[in-house]
This record gives sequence, structure tokens and C-alpha cells, in this order.
Amino acid sequence: MPSDNNKQYSQDGSNSTGRSFPSTRMRRNRTTEWSRRLVKENNISIDDLIWPLFICEGSNKIEPVLAMPGVFRYSIDTVVDAIDEAKNLGIPAIALFPHVESSLKDSMGKNAVFEKNLVCNAIKEIKIKHPEIGIQCDVALDPYTTHGHDGILDTDGNIQNDATVDILCQQALVQAEAGCDIISPSDMMDGRVGAIRKVLDAHNHSRVQIMSYAAKYNSGFYGPFREAIGSSSTLGGSSKATYQMDPGNSDEALLEVALDIAEGADMIMIKPGLPYLDIIRRVKDKFGVPTFAYQVSGEYSMIKAAGLNGWLSAERCMIESLISFKRAGANGILTYFAIEAAKLIKNSH
Ligand code: PBG
Repeated sequence: MPSDNNKQYSQDGSNSTGRSFPSTRMRRNRTTEWSRRLVKENNISIDDLIWPLFICEGSNKIEPVLAMPGVFRYSIDTVVDAIDEAKNLGIPAIALFPHVESSLKDSMGKNAVFEKNLVCNAIKEIKIKHPEIGIQCDVALDPYTTHGHDGILDTDGNIQNDATVDILCQQALVQAEAGCDIISPSDMMDGRVGAIRKVLDAHNHSRVQIMSYAAKYNSGFYGPFREAIGSSSTLGGSSKATYQMDPGNSDEALLEVALDIAEGADMIMIKPGLPYLDIIRRVKDKFGVPTFAYQVSGEYSMIKAAGLNGWLSAERCMIESLISFKRAGANGILTYFAIEAAKLIKNSH
């Protein structure tokens, strides 16, 4: 359903209409179900969903992620079947996240740029079986490094920005060569979007899109994800505060987004989702570019866990949270609820 924000109410929400009670009764439009449907300003559609998927080595594997009930790690053969369901439901795109064997990790994250790594092999297989679904891939080194950071470290343990960007460019390139449609840098290094765009273009990949994690916060809500990709133990207690944003900042997000757009990002992402709805709204109002929310692992787990305990209706809170992203101005949402939400949306028509 198209969004018609602010069609009926003034921009700042104040009563500049001259209307008042009792000639105006706000409840009148809410009286019947059909009327509520008519006046609804925002809704979630299957077209808005990107489904993040965890992949692992081996075959015939579907392993549960303990901190995310209902979420699994798939080997390449089983992920192809899982994507079948997404395709049949009409979900436009998936996002791949690898669980890398510890024997393949090193301090430089070298496996990230190997053209036959897990992600590249998965992209190729998925493209053969499901050529019509969009494939998005993270560009960052954390699944591949022994220290669990998104970049490489100098001898003092500081993340080296420019040397990391060089590796990220190679990582983006092997993914694009394998058939990735959307390159998604999640590392928060400075200058990486422009550098990646240049390398992609120089290798005939001008059609490959970039969705940058433009405003990515240093968040506790990533906890379950780190279990899913096996980076919680490598990262240990180490912090990502020198590259991910401080949760107290909002103006800074606008500059991050402006820089990524100037460097060539086609779409930008705000992450996490629910705690940062205000950032989505500010970014959308200021730039008007395709804007995405990532409803991250911890947000999924909170709703799931409370639902499993009988403390709330997980289904209802899932849809409510997804609609809130649309209300805030997001064009789409990366969410682990994608399949469940799509089924619910489909059945409600
Ligand atoms: C890796 C990355 C993270 C997420 C997506 N890409 C974790 C992190 O930065 O530590 C989080 C996704 C989620 O929590 O669902 N750079």
C-alpha cells in the first residue's frame, strides 16, 4: 500500500485546521474495519523485505542459532531450498552472512578475498537456482578475522582505516565477480564506499548496486548475530567504538549519510532499527534517497523471547515494528522476520 504521509494532518502535528470537538470526532474514521483500512497511512508490504540468512560450510546442514529462536545456519545446498520459500512468497532480496570455520580465520581476514570462499560459492549456487532474487552481501572482515574486528589492526591494536579499505575493495570485487547484486559495506571505515565504487566500475561492474551501512551504531543489539556468525568469541570484550557510531549521536548520522551518497551509495541503511527510528526520519527528510532499516538480531530475539514466554504476541509486535519503520520513512527493512511477515501479509489479503 502506498504511503501517504501527512496527507491529512499538518506537518508538525499541531492543530492548524481550525477543527475542534464536537464537529470533529477523531474516532469516527476508526469506527469500522473498512474505514480504518481506508485511512491507514502506512503499511508493510512483501516488497519491503530483505531476508538476512546465515550460511555455513558442509552439506545438508540446518543448525539452530540458539539466541535467535526460529533462525538457522544453512549449508549451501539447504539455503537454496530456504530461498525457494522466500521466492515463492515474493520476497525481493536476501542478504548473506557467513559462519566461517575458525581454521580459515587469520589476523588479516584473508579468506574474505578468496574467490572460492563460502559466500562466493553460495552466491554462484543461488544465482543458478534463483536468478530472479536479489543477493546482498556484507563487506567487512569480522567473520574472517581471529580478533573479530571489521578491519585489520596495527601493532598497537588500532584499526587501520586505509589499509582495511584496500582489502574491502578486493572483498567487494570477488563478491561482485561471483554474481552479488548489492554490495553492502558494514565496516564503517572512512572512504570505503567511494573506493569500492571505483574498483567495481574499473572491473565492469557498474551495474552492481551499493547499499552502505551509512549510520551504523555501536550497539548491544548485535549480540545474537555474533553468536550466529561465530564472532562473539573472537571479538571477546573488545569494542567497535572507534569505528561504529555513538548511540547518543544524531547530527553525525546526517554527515555519514551525506558522505556515502557523495561517494556513490545507491541506497543507505540505518542500523539498528527500532532504537533509531528518529535517525531514519531525519535522513529521509533531508536526503530523500532509498533508505533502509536493519531490524537487527537483538531486536528479533527480544520480540521472539517475549512471545515464547507468553508475555506478548510476537506476531502482532513483529508487524507493528515493521510498520513503524515504514512510518519513520524507510523504503525497506532487513529483518529475520521476513518469511513469517511475508506469510502473514499474504494471508491477510
Ligand atoms: C558485521 C555486521 C554486524 C551485523 C551486520 N554486519 C555485526 C557487527 O558489526 O558487530 C549485525 C547484524 C545483526 O545484529 O543482526 N560488520
